[in-house]
Amino acid sequence: MIMFNESKQESNTPFNVRRLSRYFVGEVTGVDLSQPLDPSCVAALSNALAEHEVLVFPDQNLSREDLMRFGRYFGELTVHPFAENDEQVPELIVFDNQEGNPPVLTDHWHSDETYRECPPLGTMLYSKVVPEIGGDTCFSSMTAAYDLLSDRMQQFLSGLEAVHDFATFKYLFPNTDEGRRQLRSCEERFPPMNHPVVRVHPVTGKKALFVNPHYTRFIKDMEDRESRALLDTLFRATSVLEYQYRHHWKPNTVVFWDNRSVQHAAVHDYYPQRRFMERVTIKGDRPFSTEPAAKAEELRKFKVAQYDHNDERRSVRQFERDTETAQAS
Ligand SMILES: [Fe+2]
Repeated sequence: MIMFNESKQESNTPFNVRRLSRYFVGEVTGVDLSQPLDPSCVAALSNALAEHEVLVFPDQNLSREDLMRFGRYFGELTVHPFAENDEQVPELIVFDNQEGNPPVLTDHWHSDETYRECPPLGTMLYSKVVPEIGGDTCFSSMTAAYDLLSDRMQQFLSGLEAVHDFATFKYLFPNTDEGRRQLRSCEERFPPMNHPVVRVHPVTGKKALFVNPHYTRFIKDMEDRESRALLDTLFRATSVLEYQYRHHWKPNTVVFWDNRSVQHAAVHDYYPQRRFMERVTIKGDRPFSTEPAAKAEELRKFKVAQYDHNDERRSVRQFERDTETAQAS
């Protein structure tokens, strides 16, 4: 176990990890990512990622081929369906934000691409040019957020599923025949997807909250007002300061985050200064829970019409309640 605020040589590993925050984040030194890595080093880094959730590699001088090779050690690289991918190498996303090209849509708390059936295992971001002021990336540990919920709340969340979709990207499709055709094609490729509200990490077995305000729409089978209230509460977990780490970028740094256990948000405070980053994304597994899915009848009283102040069926609903009560007694 790595103690925080302490530099330590991991046993049988050729690198050092220094914990940067109370609950997560390790700074890794002693490894040159521009060189091929042997399998034991990759395995140790994979374990370090699972344990620390975010790994920071300072002072790396990488070509795009080096970054992609490093990414492929951990799995297949995926192509983001809605980002401006490099023309020659679609697995590489280039963020070259500067005057005339402001950053978009990354300043919200989220896990990457959770509208997919198998959201990414992790994402690597490599800094090439950073603004003199601003442009930080914030992270929040969803493992810490889950661990520090009350036992009662953890029990309540057990077995709940949430529906995720890519609606936040729909603005990218113009209202033309071609735009609508492309949107329909994406909707077929990425239909609304159920994921457990609490997922289990496949390496550590730890539980983490897995809902985010960017892609999570509602709790499956739950009445809308309950679903909204619950999601609002869970979304606010990212704002607890103790669960956060804010990364201030220097050039030539790789940050590799575990998309299974953290959320992140980019701070858009640097425009029109230049911020030039490269990103690769590693394919993940389907999120799973150790608990059976909650039954629909536990979450919604189907005999009762949905609550609405102007609903003319309220009297009918009261009649159904009275009938149920009479039958039960
Ligand atoms: Fe992201």
